[in-house]
Amino acid sequence: MTRVTSSLDPFSPEFRADPYAAYEELRALGPVVWLEQHDIWCVHHYATCQKVLSDYAVFSNAGGGGIGNYFVEKPWRKPSIILEVDPPEHTRTRSVMNRVLSPRVFRELRAGFEEVAAGMVSEALAKGEIDGVWDLSRRFPLKVFPDSVGVEDEGRDNLLIYGAMVFGAFGPVGDWYKSFMAEHADVSDWIIARCQRDRLAPGGIGQMIYEAADRGEITDEEAMMLVRTFLSAGVDTTVDSIGLCLKALAERPDQYALLRADPSLARNAFEEATRYDSSSQSIFRTTLCETEIEGQKIGKHEKVMSFLGSAGRDPERWEDPDTFDITRKIKGQIGYGVGIHGCVGQMFARLEGEVLIRAVAEQVERLELTGTPEFRLNPGLRGLDKMPMRLH
Ligand code: HEM
Repeated sequence: MTRVTSSLDPFSPEFRADPYAAYEELRALGPVVWLEQHDIWCVHHYATCQKVLSDYAVFSNAGGGGIGNYFVEKPWRKPSIILEVDPPEHTRTRSVMNRVLSPRVFRELRAGFEEVAAGMVSEALAKGEIDGVWDLSRRFPLKVFPDSVGVEDEGRDNLLIYGAMVFGAFGPVGDWYKSFMAEHADVSDWIIARCQRDRLAPGGIGQMIYEAADRGEITDEEAMMLVRTFLSAGVDTTVDSIGLCLKALAERPDQYALLRADPSLARNAFEEATRYDSSSQSIFRTTLCETEIEGQKIGKHEKVMSFLGSAGRDPERWEDPDTFDITRKIKGQIGYGVGIHGCVGQMFARLEGEVLIRAVAEQVERLELTGTPEFRLNPGLRGLDKMPMRLH
């Protein structure tokens, strides 16, 4: 089969400003498309994304989580020992993380999260005019997430800088990324220092990971790397997803009125936002061998970009996909990925999202956007830099 080619650039400002129109164009072209600007394949239908992500024996994570191909080039940092490995290595580290992130941990965290969220929302309400990003979607995770892991208070903004580095590295090395890295090169050292056993507060999730090392399930070095993974993947993702959920609610007063009338819809609203407009729009795989998918031959060690954001809008899977509907039966959305690498922190993200959105619904009568929300330039993660709002 001759390959279907597109000149769309998923890292360009135009694509990033409105990926959904581009996704529609890609879906119309066919299930597997060659993106000639970057020499990579992409898939963008719900069913094809699921196929690729579920077949780890062919579509590997060891080639790197982003566009860089670790089979042919040197990684920018030591690869993640959970996201960027295949079984059997993955099975071992993943099972440690699964055990640490048990339902009991989330039951214990909930009440504290609720208290923090209620306080932050009431402060924002008292201000009235706020930046929805700084005052809510960034502030809340940046407090509760490092508290839960056991990271000290001082310098926590470095977590956002590090997240921007990690997700920025998922895209091609462009001018934005080069200047960002030049300015923030020393942040990696700050992060690594906070991942050491003696820097993590007792009783936190960081120490629980080191306890797995004490039981001999992983080495101390691996425990440090898993804490690093937490700090890489757990902050910006949630910040951005909560911000996009608030944006969707502010843009749809009818949906916000439903939530206000029944704040228990908060969990479903956050889940629907993860389908409708998520922080994690795309993830990569690298082929381990020659293969064929949906009739398209793909060579060995080629990169395949899987557009989760497009899978969430695929009309073959979702009724009325471009409508944000917080009452939708949302089971099966793949915004957290799917298969063995599906987000290990998704219960964490859901808890944070639900608790903050619910606190907003309980206290705020109406959300009003007072300016146009501004998107960030980071090529690896969709999220907002600013969202001027008035809380009524
Ligand atoms: C709304 C917030 C979040 C979104 C949208 C999200 C999205 C994702 C996606 C799409 C993947 C799959 C990557 C792949 O298959 O290549 C993933 C994996 C992962 N996520 Fe999340 N994530 C979120 C929050 C979190 C949080 C809070 C944590 C930490 C507690 C976390 C830790 C991880 C880790 C460690 C992996 C790798 C899992 C593995 O390879 O087995 N994520 N996430």
